[in-house]
Amino acid sequence: MDGPSGVGKSTVSRKVADRLGLSYLDTGATYRAATLAVVQAGIDIGAEDAILSELAEHDIDYAESGIMLDGGPVAVAVRSDEVTRNVSALSAHPRVRTVIVDMQRRWVQDQGGAAVVEGRDIGTVVFSDAPVKIYLTASPLVRARRRAGDAEAQGRTVEEIAAAIEARDHADSTRTASPLRPADDATVIDTSELSIEEVVESIISIVEGRST
Ligand code: DC
Repeated sequence: MDGPSGVGKSTVSRKVADRLGLSYLDTGATYRAATLAVVQAGIDIGAEDAILSELAEHDIDYAESGIMLDGGPVAVAVRSDEVTRNVSALSAHPRVRTVIVDMQRRWVQDQGGAAVVEGRDIGTVVFSDAPVKIYLTASPLVRARRRAGDAEAQGRTVEEIAAAIEARDHADSTRTASPLRPADDATVIDTSELSIEEVVESIISIVEGRST
């Protein structure tokens, strides 16, 4: 499941995973946990070698309760403004991506090879042979309105959130390493006018359509 922020990816992915009895992995949270470790260590977010050495000292995992860094839950800390501002820069480093993608692939293997995995490059790179690929989109304003309810958006206007979302989209889709884009064989769903339940239902039909 790929798409930019604020399209409802996490909520939809969790519900689809529940319905299918599968584990769920939020790969954005793995990049955020890496960013948290790097920011806490005071490392320059542009210094790829230093980032790689720092990450070698840490353990990033995804438990049922959410993202873990060195065995402790960091679901709230990874949503801080500082992490959100720096995560696109960290995730643009190709060798950093390789390390984090390896972790994501190992994680899915540990789940028996079946899971709902959400991110930006899951259908194009991480699991390019996935049996079902979904790409969610929605207009920037709709996404900003949805994000306005999130903890990380508190105190900001919808226009400010929309501007931040567009800046992050731009950074994520124009980077050289694994840019955000739909896989050629992904089903693209525009969620602007759909409820969460409607999106979940259409994905379940796609999955069931494949298995019959
Ligand atoms: O989904 P999110 O907003 O938590 O993702 C945070 C950042 O992580 C996003 O701006 C880009 C990066 N990311 C990525 O490069 N590849 C992924 N598969 C998931 C997230």
